[in-house]
Amino acid sequence: MLLEGKIALITGAAAGVQGEIMGFGGAAAWLFAGEGAKLVLTDINEEQGRRTEAQLREHGHDAVFTRLDVTSEADWEAAIKLTLDTYGKLDILVNNAGTGGRMRLEDTSEELWDGQMNVHAKGAFLGMKYAVPEMRKVGGGSIINVSSIYGLVGSQTSTAYHAAKGAVRLISKSAAIQYAGENIRVNSIHPGFCRTPMTNASYQDPAHYEPLLLRIPMGRVGQPQELAQGMLYLASDESSYVTGSELVIDGGVTAQ
Ligand code: NAI
Repeated sequence: MLLEGKIALITGAAAGVQGEIMGFGGAAAWLFAGEGAKLVLTDINEEQGRRTEAQLREHGHDAVFTRLDVTSEADWEAAIKLTLDTYGKLDILVNNAGTGGRMRLEDTSEELWDGQMNVHAKGAFLGMKYAVPEMRKVGGGSIINVSSIYGLVGSQTSTAYHAAKGAVRLISKSAAIQYAGENIRVNSIHPGFCRTPMTNASYQDPAHYEPLLLRIPMGRVGQPQELAQGMLYLASDESSYVTGSELVIDGGVTAQ
């Protein structure tokens, strides 16, 4: 039980219904719960989030769902308050919420740019801003910020997504240095191409999917559970000396 007694808040965790395609947040919820963590699941998708919460509870896990738009400071304050009211503390934060936006630079509207920067960069910033004081009270914690391989390298599209995920990578290092002395660890995780609700529709199109597979040395896309294992490592005390690092889980894409 790697997370026995730990309280974890996960953003973008609605897609965790067994029998449906899970997202990273939903897969992490099941893995963390199985390792003894108590969960605060958050998302803007309330309907799916409530179904995930209900299934976890049916399986005997401690989980509460609350609506949290990661771009809203007021929502963060309320979600942290709910965490403390429910479980009394916070040990683990997974900043996972996000959306895609596959636009080339000249086609990127100001609105798309702001939306990408808000959900990824501002979302991670606000989450850390409100989690750190609570982690300090319990003598430490672990923050996992979900970036992407697109926060490490460029591509033909997704201009604003690249910028936002690059910001997530470096705000993680900045926070890691600021709070290392207080035993609050901050790491970024960099998934490659994985089948989740965010990508599944585009993977149905062979014109998109087949060239994509050719870019992956392992010859297949990743599963959300394979990402969740990396999150578990960073969340648990197994990674007690790991901070400011980048965990790449991409089947070899960025090794090329
Ligand atoms: P997903 O669609 O299951 O997860 C994203 C969740 O974020 C959704 O449930 C959505 O409702 C929620 N969300 C969107 N905007 C929000 C907001 N403003 N506030 C709160 N929640 C919001 O998809 P997936 O793929 O699991 O995505 C999780 C993270 O992984 C994202 O940050 C994504 O950018 C990142 N990622 C995904 C990759 C992939 O291949 N699937 C590759 C690299 C990174």
